[in-house]
Amino acid sequence: MTPRSQPIRNPRPPGFVYREMKQGLLRRTGLYTLACEKLAITKLVKKHGTPLYVYSAAMIHERYAIFEGAFRSIPHTICYSVKANSNLGILRLLAKKGCGFDVVSGGELERVLAADKKAAKRVVFSGVGKTREELTAALKAGILLFNVESESELWALAECAGRLHTSAPVALRVNPDVAAETHPYISTGLHKHKFGVPIREARALYHKASSARYLRVRGVSVHIGSQITDVAPFGEAMARISDLVGELRKDGHRIDYVDAGGGLGISYDKPDIDFPAHTAAYARALAGPLRDLDVELLLEPGRSIVGPAGILVTSVIYRKANDGKRFLVVDAAMNDLIRPALYGAYHEIVPVTQRAEAGAKPETADIVGPVCETGDFFARDRQIPGVQEGDLLAILDAGAYGMALASNYNTRPRPAEVLVAGTSARLIRRRETVSDILRLEI
Ligand code: LLP
Repeated sequence: MTPRSQPIRNPRPPGFVYREMKQGLLRRTGLYTLACEKLAITKLVKKHGTPLYVYSAAMIHERYAIFEGAFRSIPHTICYSVKANSNLGILRLLAKKGCGFDVVSGGELERVLAADKKAAKRVVFSGVGKTREELTAALKAGILLFNVESESELWALAECAGRLHTSAPVALRVNPDVAAETHPYISTGLHKHKFGVPIREARALYHKASSARYLRVRGVSVHIGSQITDVAPFGEAMARISDLVGELRKDGHRIDYVDAGGGLGISYDKPDIDFPAHTAAYARALAGPLRDLDVELLLEPGRSIVGPAGILVTSVIYRKANDGKRFLVVDAAMNDLIRPALYGAYHEIVPVTQRAEAGAKPETADIVGPVCETGDFFARDRQIPGVQEGDLLAILDAGAYGMALASNYNTRPRPAEVLVAGTSARLIRRRETVSDILRLEI
């Protein structure tokens, strides 16, 4: 066999690895094809078509276990952030592990209850605009904690709880005024952002909350943003929260929980981030300031659990060149995965099938979708091994905020989703059809 000029790097093991295709039982072909766990992506595509989201259950299990392990020395509950990927199949898989959930709408709460009725007692409810209907539904379900984000919401919650003759477990989400390096759209911990209540006003609000008959003060919560890879800002925010907990206890409040929110980033552009070391550093940054406080830590990771565990598979429809600039037009678009269009986000893109020896020459091209907007791209000026029309590409790290943000823009039915576990694959959402889209229109 010709020696490979460049080894084919497995994109996101253990979930996504290249396997050599065999001819008959034994004959090597020098062709490598991407598999999710033990299943070839090509096989999944034959059955379900493209664009197709594929998730690895083993990888979600592994990342959840690593996250759990990093916090084992501290009393804690992981409340997976449902917004990252809210498919019932994934929620069920996590619920079975005893995972809790962070929800931000009545709809997400219903999803969690559909996945596991008993999970309600491990649910925290965040968000700046919870309606009275949503608050009432969560009170009826008996959730663990309301992360309240304003004084108005506090009174709305008291009113809803009063109507049900129950009391609502409350944490105030405080805004610690800590800057975190991430995209401005997903940074949340500065006073100019809409989230939480300013930390210096928190004591006065806690005082009001504790005097309300139908509210029970139980904790403090914070969330400084998403896709934050440096752990220092998490520690800084936690130090401020720790001081606040001390003051609140002196004021006579009962603080059992500190909810640290989510936000731990993943590495989209390098495959080799050491997730165990990264989560361990994150755990140390959070745990340091909480030492001796005797609180239960609530964690709301989303992306770090499911991000690398999912890919979006797409077919190349056309190759084209405009005045020498090359484009690969694929059948997925910004409506299926909006991150590049919305945040200029980078996603690694690999051919599903590759030749071991230097085959077709790499080329530089834009990888774009069929939607009628210049912003509809997955990659710009990207070097990619030679790709032909009809070939399959995998867009990596699409497990979080991929399908969850998908829309029907351009009347494009949303992709199917498949969850792989070893050699078996389960369709966890069928491909939408145009009649699904039209059904609600009168
Ligand atoms: N908790 C709260 C209160 C949040 O607002 C978020 C995310 C999380 C937890 C989970 O954060 P994670 O661990 O996944 O970073 N669509 C954007 C991300 C938006 C994040 C919104 N809030 C993206 O695609 O990058």
